[in-house]
Amino acid sequence: MTESMNGTRPPGIGDGAKVHAHVTGWGRYVPSQVLSNKDLERMVDTNDEWIVTRTGIRERRVAAANETTASMGAVAGLRAIRAAGIDADDIDLILLATLTPDYWMPSTAALVKEAIGNTRAAAMDVAAACSGFVYGFATAQAWIEAGLAKHVLVIGAELLTRFLDYTDRSTCILFGDGAGAAVLSASSKPGGALGIELTTEPQGAYMIWLPAGGAKAPPSAETLARGEHYIRMEGKETYRFATKTLASTALESVRKSGLDADDIKLFIPHQANIRIIEAVAKGLNLSMDRIYTNVDKYGNTSAASVPIAMAEAVNEGRVDVGDRITIVAFGAGFTSGAVTIEWTADPARGREADAAVRAEDVQVRLPVDWDSVDPIPPALAELMNRPGSVDVPLDDVVPGEPEPASQPLVR
Ligand code: ACO
Repeated sequence: MTESMNGTRPPGIGDGAKVHAHVTGWGRYVPSQVLSNKDLERMVDTNDEWIVTRTGIRERRVAAANETTASMGAVAGLRAIRAAGIDADDIDLILLATLTPDYWMPSTAALVKEAIGNTRAAAMDVAAACSGFVYGFATAQAWIEAGLAKHVLVIGAELLTRFLDYTDRSTCILFGDGAGAAVLSASSKPGGALGIELTTEPQGAYMIWLPAGGAKAPPSAETLARGEHYIRMEGKETYRFATKTLASTALESVRKSGLDADDIKLFIPHQANIRIIEAVAKGLNLSMDRIYTNVDKYGNTSAASVPIAMAEAVNEGRVDVGDRITIVAFGAGFTSGAVTIEWTADPARGREADAAVRAEDVQVRLPVDWDSVDPIPPALAELMNRPGSVDVPLDDVVPGEPEPASQPLVR
């Protein structure tokens, strides 16, 4: 427990003054292996044109065998800490949003805490599917405004390519791997995180779900044979919910911030499908240049999607000091969430942090005397070993930032 967690104000914050939660750090990490639509054509009955027209996705990233949700989250987290200009040990609370944890227990947040070299923080996972990062962000904001923490690290990290049925063309084309993070810090200066809107509509609980492995259907030969350890989705129902809720949730967060949609420089939505994002733009009467998209490069990375998009938007110069932005997501549950933020940090710090923290320097400790199985799904492994064309990955993100060379999955 830290001094700030017993209800006293964080050091340096004046008694009686309202405490504001500012985004001081942000970072992202995506694996270097690229899985293109052309690669998927070799696996299931699909084609690049169908995927691009129906979803806007052109390629997604796939974690290597030695990468995990914790390792990707730790890299993104360390980049966010570096951008914030603090030490890892200054973090009081780590919240990690994921639907693909490394293990059922311990929490992935606990593994990240050790990997980043933090000795002080409380750490826990957040389960709200694709809305998880926004739920975590809102929780971090509440902790800071309540005087319970000075610096909170919020991470969204997902390794979805190990939970997909590569015989189901309606789901396996949608998802990818990656991680994003933000540091929220207490300040007496106005600005930072403003209005929060979070919703959960459990009538949609079985529209996106992973049936087996939990207490209702513990893993067994039977659940495995029935493929119940893979993500299932009713695409159309989810699509309808998403288009409705993204716009209303974003607007409610803007309203709670005392602002109008016209005051928002950039909306940063969950990257699931370009058609959903375009429908939201239409619903809110916004031109697409006020909505950030990168779904073409990464597909749907669930809880990692919003923080990856936020980090890239800032690093690409789309957000400046004084701008208001709204992050908004929807996901299984059905959950949705939005937070409006007045940006107060120097965007250049994110670019510097991305270059300074190298993924290969970050290690997550492994268990003693336990060898995991090869984690790469057989269908992906087969594709990787099959001779084929080499796809040129989409150009990566940040101007001026030397991204590690992307390795196409098919050699
Ligand atoms: N390639 C080619 N054809 C396909 C593919 C594919 N990959 N997938 C489906 N089809 C076929 C279907 O079989 C169907 O054929 P039929 O007419 O002969 O039956 C046809 O294409 C149309 O299928 P629909 O499901 O009607 O296609 P739709 O336009 O609805 O697009 C999609 C499907 C992309 C899944 C869309 O519904 C969607 O994006 N839904 C939202 C999904 C989403 O956002 N999920 C994230 C949830 S967040 C979380 O928490 C995990």
